[in-house]
Amino acid sequence: MCGIIGYVGNRQGMPLALDALRRMEYRGYDSAGIAVADNHQINSVKRAGKLRNLEDRIAEIGEENFHGSTAIGHTRWATHGRPTNENAHPHMSFDGKVAIVHNGIIENFAPLREELQRKGIEMMSETDSEVAAHLLALAYQEGETAGNFQASALAVLNRLEGAFTLLFMHADHPDQIIAGRRSTPLIVGVGDNEMFLGSDVAAFIEYTKNAVELGQDNVVVLRQHDFEILNFDGSPAQGRAFTIDWDLAAAEKGGFDSFMLKEIHEQPAAVRDTLAGHYHNGRVTLDEQNLSDEDLKYIDQVFVVACGSAYHSGLLAKYAIEHWVRIPVQIEVASEFRYRDPVLDERTLVLAISQSGETADTLEAVRHAKSQGAKVLAVCNTNGSQIPRESDAVLYTHAGPEIGVASTKAFLAQVAANYIVGLALAQAKGTKYPDEIAEIYRSLEEIPAKIESLLACEDQVTDIAQLLGAVRTMLFLGRGVGYPVALEGALKLKELAYIHAEGFPAGELKHGPIALIEDDLPVVVVVPSPRGVTLLHSKIVSNIQEIRARGAKTIVIAEEGDTAVEPYANWLIRIPETPSMMQPLLATVPLQFLAAEIARQCGNEDIDKPRNLAKSVTVE
Ligand code: M6R
Repeated sequence: MCGIIGYVGNRQGMPLALDALRRMEYRGYDSAGIAVADNHQINSVKRAGKLRNLEDRIAEIGEENFHGSTAIGHTRWATHGRPTNENAHPHMSFDGKVAIVHNGIIENFAPLREELQRKGIEMMSETDSEVAAHLLALAYQEGETAGNFQASALAVLNRLEGAFTLLFMHADHPDQIIAGRRSTPLIVGVGDNEMFLGSDVAAFIEYTKNAVELGQDNVVVLRQHDFEILNFDGSPAQGRAFTIDWDLAAAEKGGFDSFMLKEIHEQPAAVRDTLAGHYHNGRVTLDEQNLSDEDLKYIDQVFVVACGSAYHSGLLAKYAIEHWVRIPVQIEVASEFRYRDPVLDERTLVLAISQSGETADTLEAVRHAKSQGAKVLAVCNTNGSQIPRESDAVLYTHAGPEIGVASTKAFLAQVAANYIVGLALAQAKGTKYPDEIAEIYRSLEEIPAKIESLLACEDQVTDIAQLLGAVRTMLFLGRGVGYPVALEGALKLKELAYIHAEGFPAGELKHGPIALIEDDLPVVVVVPSPRGVTLLHSKIVSNIQEIRARGAKTIVIAEEGDTAVEPYANWLIRIPETPSMMQPLLATVPLQFLAAEIARQCGNEDIDKPRNLAKSVTVE
């Protein structure tokens, strides 16, 4: 939810932390702040609003007043307390000696707050986080842990409940940072004579590609030349070292107006890289596997859990797995899953899909599934994140860093990965012959080149968006695998342009939503291939006529050569021919451009950071 940077080294901490926050602003952008330790003193600065406000404030004070090579920084997505200067991080302790930044939620903050107030400590903010700063200062001042930074930090961490990553800095120890994590991410960046902490590797990718992922309930003591990992009880622990396989350019805009547009254009590579290496010698393979072919063979039902765009990709997993594997697949919005007591057992596979691997709703669904004995397979884009860590197996999507809050390339990569899962299941259960699997995989491998050619539709889509003029509401219709595409198109428009939009199965229209149709209402229709289930195609052609007859303006997405739709389309966007199951990997692309352009016309200047949203949602 929030973005965190920690640095101990030989560079100036302030400019380095600011740069890191710039790259992590997508994680939260309603306030930001930095604290720098030097010469037994901590200087801190914070501001509500976008990072620019913090930069202006630093310029006012003078960057030279923040001298020091140990720094912590934070960019916030508010949970407890409004986005104000006071609620921004870092939070300082009552004695001015401790600075903390926090990502997550301290669930027992209320009794801790009361305890501190009883001791006469005045709270400066409305946040749950501030208590950690005061508790640390108190632990360092008195009792068994007095004068011992590490023991004090461990004592505080052991008192906290909830999900948190906390970075502590103490003025008496300006050469180190102590950090602890539970259920929210924290990665160590290992440099030459300098060490980093980040909520994700984007924080320090400019300086090192060597990273270490911390385990659950781990603490790290970070110094300039080394670091030490401990458990919350102080015993030694091990992290998992990995090498970051993307570079700084991947985390920057590369000439595009926005990260989102860059990421739309990166989709051919995202799908290609996700497919790479999963089919050799006539066999489909997953990544980190604690699920054998025997385990997969034993599976007799699948549950998909995910949120937002990942959920839409999961709907496509349902279509593919039921079609290829012939076992029932249920799909559930992750936030609902554990509360309705789904029937799970050891023959159930739960497919948990998440770009960030941090989404709290999905993580809790994974935990519930495991507690019921189900096997969990994660589809995830973020190495080292919590959801794959807690799953039995993982299939990584290789979309690279997705910075735009609206998911684009990660969504397409998820669809491709879900299809690999479907094929792995079909292979293990023998529901498809090897040559059928080979053919499906081949058609998947043809997709990146088709997306590449489809990107040329950007200009046409921009023109359509301009001709539409002011849009108040918009409907998206699809049938079969076109239905999840319609939902995804509507979600993109809602989150980017703040316009009311809804996706429907086209056949459902006549059962209610058709009442919404009025003159000039724009309706997007995703048309299935005429070479697929022909009945489905002819049914949707009738649906288009029905809405046209009631005055709607139709934007029709149809395969090249599909002439039947021409008379009923106000605008026709052509997509390359492809087998029906693959069509969503193409039909989604014009809808991404459409939402981005309508948002631009509505005056939403920063489509990478839509209002009220954050990239990873680490609260339930
Ligand atoms: O990181 P995740 O894939 O778990 O995130 C799930 C949703 O929050 C995410 O897809 C969200 O709906 C996007 N902003 C949609 O564009």
